[in-house]
Amino acid sequence: MPTVMLVAGTRPNFMKIKPVLDALEKRAAHVVLVHAGQHYDHAMSEVFFADLGLRAPDRHLGTGSGTVVQQTARIMTAFEPVLADIAPDAVVVVGDVTATLACALVTAHSGITLAHVEAGLRSRDWDMPEEINRVVVDRVSDLLFAPSPDAVDNLHGEGYHPHQIRLVGNVMVDTLLANLSRARESNVLARNGLKAGEFGLVTLHRPSNVDDPVALGTLMTALGEVARLLPLVMTVHPRTAKRLDASGIPTGLQLLPPAGYLDFLSLQAEARMVLTDSGGVQEETTVLGVPCLTLRESTERPITIAQGTNTLVGRDPQRIIGAATRILHTPPPRRCPALWDGRAAERIADILLDHLAAPVRNRPTDLPASGLDGTGHPANRAVARQRR
Ligand code: UD1
Ligand code: UDP
Repeated sequence: MPTVMLVAGTRPNFMKIKPVLDALEKRAAHVVLVHAGQHYDHAMSEVFFADLGLRAPDRHLGTGSGTVVQQTARIMTAFEPVLADIAPDAVVVVGDVTATLACALVTAHSGITLAHVEAGLRSRDWDMPEEINRVVVDRVSDLLFAPSPDAVDNLHGEGYHPHQIRLVGNVMVDTLLANLSRARESNVLARNGLKAGEFGLVTLHRPSNVDDPVALGTLMTALGEVARLLPLVMTVHPRTAKRLDASGIPTGLQLLPPAGYLDFLSLQAEARMVLTDSGGVQEETTVLGVPCLTLRESTERPITIAQGTNTLVGRDPQRIIGAATRILHTPPPRRCPALWDGRAAERIADILLDHLAAPVRNRPTDLPASGLDGTGHPANRAVARQRR
């Protein structure tokens, strides 16, 4: 059976790789799990291995924090000898973080088959490091596992071969559905004096929201207003913890450390609404049917708006307060995208192993000359430059 290397580096990656690892091992593939070490605190890494029953990584790159460029360089340098040593038949990367990009680039240089899980998502916001990662990782991948039809459309628009693009559904939803009943047993609400349906849950970690003190202050003001209507609890990401000023925390906003997966799922499931800038949380609230306000100007997950419970509200306090007030009166209807059914990883494993049994190389040189000029790539760069 083939050897497949799975790469994870940050909090959301662990939820994405777990079902893929299980599905591959169920089919007797030899899986080598690599932790790139981009996230390393217990609350950002180990807790997820415990909560998800994920076995310890076979290799840990231990690369740690730095600028995006430093992290990319360190992870690439650390990953290259590991890849050469294991020489897998395929590498699977997930999501859009720095570790995803770094390991994808090394794999592309090695000539080993590369599969990207969560391919095709686009925010069209070039100020987000993740948007650069999404586009580049897709470009160097052989297999593009898309979570939703909008992602498929983006990939077709950029000129990828139809046989590279596979609509498989959402692996994060696989993990959610597999763990929801265990999460409901968590006592996280009681531990923090919360009552089901009587609080709002907040997460913030996008650089555009938390690195700029003015932007963060504006958001805190808006959250303070929402907290007059509904008490809020926020699990604080380490990036945000470094920037929050105790004097700027509004009354009614309770701060907690980053939560483990089961506790956080319980908090989401029991919240009256969620206010977030997370990508994964937009998806999870959609599946849980919990109203979500996304505190960003764009989303790479528009399906959570078209078919889920998500509303894009940006950072303007009046918009945020108005949307929160509307949700308290009339929650949005519950709808769930097709194939977000708990079986995405099974589809991925079947397709990947079939592909390895009869490989067709889909390297980017195969792209038609007209490829990659769609979806406003240069135009978006110009827009981003004008905004700066
Ligand atoms: C990263 C991803 C982002 C993802 C998020 C998930 C990139 C470019 N960004 O953002 O897409 O949504 O992870 O949570 O890959 N830190 C700690 N302990 C840790 C990890 C980080 O203290 O275990 C602190 C460090 O000060 C670090 C900062 O958080 O400099 C930011 O970490 P980093 O991994 O660079 O980016 P995130 O904001 O976590
Ligand atoms: N999450 C968690 N604890 C928290 C906040 C988030 O377990 O305190 C989970 C959440 O349920 C989802 C994932 O982390 O599965 C989302 O990660 P994050 O928001 O850090 O990254 P993004 O999805 O924005 O890349």
